Amino acid sequence: MDRTQVVLPAEDVRRQEEFTRRLAALLRRPDRQPMAMVDTYGCQQNVADSQRLMGMLRDMGCGFTQDPYGADVIVVNTCAIRENAEKKVFGVVGQLVHAKEKNPDVIICLCGCMAQQETVAAKIKNSYRHVDLVFGPQALWKFPELLYGVCTEHKRAFSIADEHGTIAEGLPVVRESGVKAWVSIMYGCNNFCSYCIVPYVRGRERSREAECVLAEVRELVEAGYKEITLLGQNVNSYGKDLDEPLDFADLLREIDKIPGDYLIRFMTSHPKDAGPKLFETMAECSHVAKQIHLPVQSGSSRVLKAMNRGYTREQYLEKVRLARAAMPDVVLTSDIIIGFPGETEAEAMETVALIEEVRYDALFTFIYSPRPGTPAARLPDPVSREEKQVWFDRLLDAQNRISGELHRSYVGRTLRVLADGESGDPAWPLSSRTAGGRLVHLRGDTSLIGQYVDARITGSNTWALFGEAL
Ligand code: 5AD
Ligand code: SF4
Repeated sequence: MDRTQVVLPAEDVRRQEEFTRRLAALLRRPDRQPMAMVDTYGCQQNVADSQRLMGMLRDMGCGFTQDPYGADVIVVNTCAIRENAEKKVFGVVGQLVHAKEKNPDVIICLCGCMAQQETVAAKIKNSYRHVDLVFGPQALWKFPELLYGVCTEHKRAFSIADEHGTIAEGLPVVRESGVKAWVSIMYGCNNFCSYCIVPYVRGRERSREAECVLAEVRELVEAGYKEITLLGQNVNSYGKDLDEPLDFADLLREIDKIPGDYLIRFMTSHPKDAGPKLFETMAECSHVAKQIHLPVQSGSSRVLKAMNRGYTREQYLEKVRLARAAMPDVVLTSDIIIGFPGETEAEAMETVALIEEVRYDALFTFIYSPRPGTPAARLPDPVSREEKQVWFDRLLDAQNRISGELHRSYVGRTLRVLADGESGDPAWPLSSRTAGGRLVHLRGDTSLIGQYVDARITGSNTWALFGEAL
C-alpha cells in the first residue's frame, strides 16, 4: 500500500476541528453543559479508540456521564470478537430506545468492530431505528464530520465503507488516569486466522511512523505517566509497511532511550513473528516490562494449521524456551480457544498438556464462537456446546491450580510495584502491578497512587497477590 494513501493529510484531520467548533455551537445548552456518554466493549484498542472519541466530544464542549437519560450524545463502541459480545451490545442498544423516548433530541451512535459488519449495520438500520449514526473503526477520525451531518441534516447516517484503513495523527484524547496510557503503534491485521473477524473489520496492517510514536511516548513520560502500553493487533508486524527499515524490536530500543522512570508494555504479539531478536531486545531494555502475551490458541498442531496460525506446537514451545532463556523471570500469558470446529477431545487435551508444560502466569480462555464470514464458520462443527464446556472446565481447573502455585511462590518476597488505583476494598485499599504485570492488592495509603513502591508479599490466591507497602 502507498504510504501517502495511508497517512491522512494533516488538512483532513484539521478539517475535523472546524466541525468540532460548529458542533460546540450546536450542542450548547442555555442552562447546562451538554453531556456525552461513551460506553466501551472489547479490547484495549477499543478503549484507546474511545479515549480519542472522548477527546473529540470534550472539544465539542461535552462533559461525561454514565447515565443514558442524562446524555445529549451517546456513543456505544462495540466488539465483534465473539457472539456473546455482540448479544450484549444489542441488549444495551435495545434499551437505549427508552432514552430516545424520554429525550428525542439525544443522538445515539454505534461504532467499533460490530458497526463495520454489513449484517449488523443492516439490522441496526431496520430494527433499531433510534440509532442515528453508525460508523466503523476506520471512520473514527471523522466522527465530528459524521455527527455534524446527523445534527444538521436530521437523518440517519451509516459510514461503513470497506476501507483498507488510514492513519490519523493528532486526534484529541482524554486519558483515564495520569498513571497509565495506551499508545497505538499500528492498526489492522493481515493474519486472517480462520476463526477471527478482526481482519475483516479493522482493515489492513498499517504502522504509525516511528517518530510519531516516539513523540507521543516522550510526551507521556514527561507528563508523568508511569506505564505505557503499546497497542496493535499484532505488534510484531510493526514496520513491515514503513519505508524505513525498522521493526518492532528496533522501535522498543528507540523508545527505551527516552529518559525517565516508566515501564513499557505491549500487546498483542503473534508467536509466528516473535523471535530471539525481540526477546533479547526486551531483556536489554530497562524500561521494557519482562512480560509477554503470546497467544497460543491451541496445543494441537493439526488444529493450529486449521486455524491458519503459522506455527506448530513444537515451534511455539521453542519460542517460549527462547523467551525464557533471554528473560528467566519473564511473565507469560496466553489466549486459548477450546472447541474450534472439528477439534477432538484428544486435541483439546493436547492444549491442556501444553499449558501444564508452559505454566503460564495467566490465561484468557474462550469457547469457539462462529463469526459469520470467516472460513472457520463454514467448517462442520459436530461437538456439542456441553462437551466443549467439559473440556473448557478441565482447562480452567488446570490453569487455576498453576496460577495458584505460581502466586504462592511469591509470598515472603519483596517486589517493586506501581500503585495504579484504588481497589474499593477497605482491607486492601490500593491496587498495584508488578513489573511483570501481576496484580497485587496492597495495604497502604492512597496517596501512593502513581508511585512505584516496594511491597512485601504476604498472601496470594489464584488471581492475585496481597501485600504491604514498605
Ligand atoms: N471465538 C472464540 N474466541 C475467539 N478469539 C478470537 N476470535 C474468536 C472466536 N471466533 C479469541 C482469541 C484471541 C482473543 C482476542 O479472542 O483467543 O486471541
Ligand atoms: Fe473486539 Fe477484536 Fe474489535 Fe478489539 S479488535 S474490539 S477484540 S473485535
